[in-house]
Amino acid sequence: RQQARQAGRLAGKSFLVTAGPTHEPLDPVRYLANRSSGRQGYALAESLADLGADVTLVSGPTGLRAPAGVTVSFCETARQMRDLALNAVQAHRFDAAICTAAVADWRPAVMQDQKIKKTGRDDQPAPLALIPNPDILAELSELSPFRPSLVVGFAAETEKVEAHARAKLERKGCNWIVANDVGAGSDVMGGPDNQVILMTQDTVEHWPRLSKEEVARRLAMTLADWFSKAN
Ligand code: CTP
Ligand code: CA
Repeated sequence: RQQARQAGRLAGKSFLVTAGPTHEPLDPVRYLANRSSGRQGYALAESLADLGADVTLVSGPTGLRAPAGVTVSFCETARQMRDLALNAVQAHRFDAAICTAAVADWRPAVMQDQKIKKTGRDDQPAPLALIPNPDILAELSELSPFRPSLVVGFAAETEKVEAHARAKLERKGCNWIVANDVGAGSDVMGGPDNQVILMTQDTVEHWPRLSKEEVARRLAMTLADWFSKAN
């Protein structure tokens, strides 16, 4: 069977996968987040492990079951995710890092110790000051001396998907970008399917609409092909 022939193709290779949203606290009961379910990243971690890879998954809050055979570290915020990812890279020397997480780009400038209270019925909220979070993909891409040989980002776009993804590839310094359209009318974020464009420095591949599990299997195979050519 196809499956049996593929098993073990990534034996001896190690992968870091980030997945899920991050939650950025505003006060003890509120946070900023996004619609990411974590499903694509979890499916990818599982597919890589199915091919024999050693996989570390750094996950934001998802409520998903940890994939079999994968080491999972959980976090809430972007800064925690960054620390877990960079510590793991230093301890582990991964062959590849794949950032599927929908990291919050900004966090509240101040995390209030106590719940922010209304004082009256027509109270206007105070303006919400935000500050930038670390960019985990960019940090991994420029990491030295432990940069994984292959660093892969995902790109969530609502328009001009290919152009934005190409720009992101350059800006982040990663090797590949898996771009998807998460615009209105697409049910990608949180949904069961994904339609992606796989972009490298000199190639662009449009994949058909597939389940996230199928995208994960294809991507794991593509990675196995790349490693078998590279080494
Ligand atoms: N990413 C990350 N850390 C961040 C923001 C993004 O690691 N603070 C990673 C994501 O995991 C993804 C890639 O960067 O692999 C692109 O994320 P995306 O949100 O599409 O791009 P941004 O560079 O944040 O730009 P924008 O949200 O404005 O499109
Ligand atoms: Ca972003």
